[in-house]
Amino acid sequence: MSLVLDPAAQDLLFREARTANAFTDEPVTDEQVQAIYDLVKYGPTAFNQTPLRITLVRSPEARERLVKHMAEGNQAKTAAAPLVAILSADNEFHEELPALFPAFPQAKDVFFAERPVREGSAAMNAALQAAYFIVGVRAAGLAAGPMTGFDFEGVRKEFLDDDHTPLMVVNIGRPGPDAWYPRSPRLAYDDVVTTV
Ligand SMILES: Cc1cc2nc3c(=O)[nH]c(=O)nc-3n(C[C@H](O)[C@H](O)[C@H](O)COP(=O)(O)O)c2cc1C
Repeated sequence: MSLVLDPAAQDLLFREARTANAFTDEPVTDEQVQAIYDLVKYGPTAFNQTPLRITLVRSPEARERLVKHMAEGNQAKTAAAPLVAILSADNEFHEELPALFPAFPQAKDVFFAERPVREGSAAMNAALQAAYFIVGVRAAGLAAGPMTGFDFEGVRKEFLDDDHTPLMVVNIGRPGPDAWYPRSPRLAYDDVVTTV
């Protein structure tokens, strides 16, 4: 009993949580997305830079514009999901740093004056936040279908700008019939963990 989290919550977030490929028609509301964000925003990032940005693709017209950039195998489920979110990294996150990291407001200029440095840091930290977001979706009793099978430059041009780099597209909803592929194995502890 090394884990203090309630076993039912462990199952909800990890053991029984799956990547969904089909969804019911039940809508995902803005209130649910806000509750998810207001939970996962506390996940840690370097200098509290929180570079993740989320674009909710709701209108049928926007959904159509997104689907055309998805890999063929991802198109039908992205067209049908109750909600789709484009997760991106804000490469200009440093503008917010004096407010977000008041312990060391100079971090903006000392560490993040150069764009390539910001891009690397934003990619890493927004990816962390994307993982928190997926777990947050599960905490709301929903399922996520994260995807990187899409034309990144196409999505960036269609929905974002030069300062934002797409990370992944996430389908969100209640899992529908035949939502899962077979569960794949995971590496065992001893295959992954070394102690020095
Ligand atoms: C960053 C990321 C990108 C992924 N891209 C795709 C994708 O483009 N298409 C797809 O069908 N599944 C995609 N997946 C789903 C993974 O294959 C799936 O999450 C993994 O096999 C674990 O499945 P499980 O949660 O059902 O155990 C992606 C998952 C992640 C986290």
